[in-house]
Amino acid sequence: MKILITGATGFVGSHLVDHFVSDGHEVYALFRSETKLHEFSIKGIPIKGDFSNFAWLNQLPTDLEAVIHTAGLVHASDTDDFYKINVNATVDLINQLKDKYSHLIFGLISSQAASGPSLKVTGKDEQAKDLPVSHYGKSKLLAENKLTKLSPHTWKTFIIRPPMVIGPRDFAMLSVFKIVKTGLVPVVGNPDQKIYSFVSIFDLVKGITAATYQIQKSNRQIFYIAHPQPVSYRTIISAIRRVMTIQNQPWFLFVRMPSWILLVIAYLLQLIKYFFPPFDPLLTPDKIKEIIPNQWVVTSNKSMEWLQINYNCDLETAIRLTYEDYKGRSWL
Ligand SMILES: NC(=O)c1ccc[n+]([C@@H]2O[C@H](COP(=O)([O-])OP(=O)(O)OC[C@H]3O[C@@H](n4cnc5c(N)ncnc54)[C@H](OP(=O)(O)O)[C@@H]3O)[C@@H](O)[C@H]2O)c1
Repeated sequence: MKILITGATGFVGSHLVDHFVSDGHEVYALFRSETKLHEFSIKGIPIKGDFSNFAWLNQLPTDLEAVIHTAGLVHASDTDDFYKINVNATVDLINQLKDKYSHLIFGLISSQAASGPSLKVTGKDEQAKDLPVSHYGKSKLLAENKLTKLSPHTWKTFIIRPPMVIGPRDFAMLSVFKIVKTGLVPVVGNPDQKIYSFVSIFDLVKGITAATYQIQKSNRQIFYIAHPQPVSYRTIISAIRRVMTIQNQPWFLFVRMPSWILLVIAYLLQLIKYFFPPFDPLLTPDKIKEIIPNQWVVTSNKSMEWLQINYNCDLETAIRLTYEDYKGRSWL
């Protein structure tokens, strides 16, 4: 297969390139940063470009068969940026590809955030009503709707909604490890009652490739790709402490914070960013809308039944491999 992966130097994209290349496919890896290309030893055929100019499309073969669109913004201080990149750039990409390819598989990597938190620990399935709570989630849902509306009938499309993804090369999880190392872990609510779905990067990539290879089944479908066993916030933090072998740290404490205090801190950080633009705080008012709900749980039944995926990588293994990768890169 000839496949284009956007966001090839990103966390999800880089692992996806690895997997498709090792399966023997001809992979075109869209990237922006040479530094990241080398840092992650990105395989395949590198194509430099972004979504402000589509001249790079000329480097793709005329018989390209599939595009997996992983590029997107997961963090932004200015919420308009979520819509610019996650929605408008996706629309531009689809329109440009439509002009060139009448037949194509197009897989969109969306997010659990597109549907929002779950009201029950039993979790949301793909039929449940979508009620995103953050601009990030709203932008991902809009992108899904655009794909459905704009893709020609001759295309085959699918949407993957991962929950929290854990694995090597993830820059976002690094800050959690650093916070745990301090021994003081902030939490809004009860750490035992905050329940999350997660997926290891390895199982997610298996799910995305399965949806691509079994496109007759996955066409026009949405899939949650999530480990069947959700975990509590305390379980995640305890696993990180065990893996870092700091479980006997005498000063460890969950610092319970009311959401309004966190919101005040987030607005203060925005103010600092206003005066010092290079400062890019991870805690934003939009992120707090995702931190407050207690349950972010989805079901994996559809992915297991339709795509025959087994979720082999448990939380502890995913966290251990992530920690080893961080240490290897001297990130921690
Ligand atoms: N990680 C998770 O837990 C998670 C959970 C649910 C859904 N997702 C979804 O999975 C996808 C990948 O996320 P990730 O965790 O891999 O994030 P990531 O590491 O930040 O990767 C995002 C990729 O998108 C690229 N990108 C961003 N803006 C771009 C632009 N304007 N033009 C071209 N490329 C651009 C980035 O390029 P650079 O490499 O040059 O920065 C990067 O390669 C996203 O769509 C995200 O919404 C992730």
